[in-house]
Amino acid sequence: MFRAVNIKRRGCFWQQGNMSILDEQIKLLEWKDLGDERGNLVVVEGNVDIPFEIKRIFYIYGSDDTVVRGQHANKNSEFVMINVCGTSKVKVDNGTESRVIELSRPRMGLYLKNNVWKDMYEFSPDSILLVLASEHYDEKEYIRDYQEYLKYMEEMEPDNAGQALQR
Ligand code: TYD
Repeated sequence: MFRAVNIKRRGCFWQQGNMSILDEQIKLLEWKDLGDERGNLVVVEGNVDIPFEIKRIFYIYGSDDTVVRGQHANKNSEFVMINVCGTSKVKVDNGTESRVIELSRPRMGLYLKNNVWKDMYEFSPDSILLVLASEHYDEKEYIRDYQEYLKYMEEMEPDNAGQALQR
């Protein structure tokens, strides 16, 4: 599992309840506001507040409610998505289950394990979606065709899938 002890240090909140497989692959994170009378401050440290070392960041802005981004899965990369400004929605899908998460607060993050299909959409005009990634960019680890993704997930050895879920 993740380094929950470290993560709790900053008062991170992990979703609980009846767990499905998708619940093991995605996590809603909530970080503390370390701000004061000067304004807000949110800190996200790799391997402390999120379960991986950050190797890359990218951010998406200037998209609107007619755009759908993402539409891919990554074989290796894990991500944390944060709408540092505005709002957007993320539909996550593991081939058998799907869920829509609204990113609506700068203190809120959505963690995605590898092999999760994602669509980002309904961007507000002021949306800035910050993405922290566990890997450098490598187009070879992307699956951009949904049918191919379903086949890949079906063919994945159950042992590998289990291992992937427990990491
Ligand atoms: P794309 O994967 O379509 O972005 P999104 O998931 O946000 O819809 O990427 C758009 C282009 O940018 C594509 O040519 C690949 C390139 N790109 C990089 O070079 N490095 C990166 O880290 C990312 C996310 C994309």
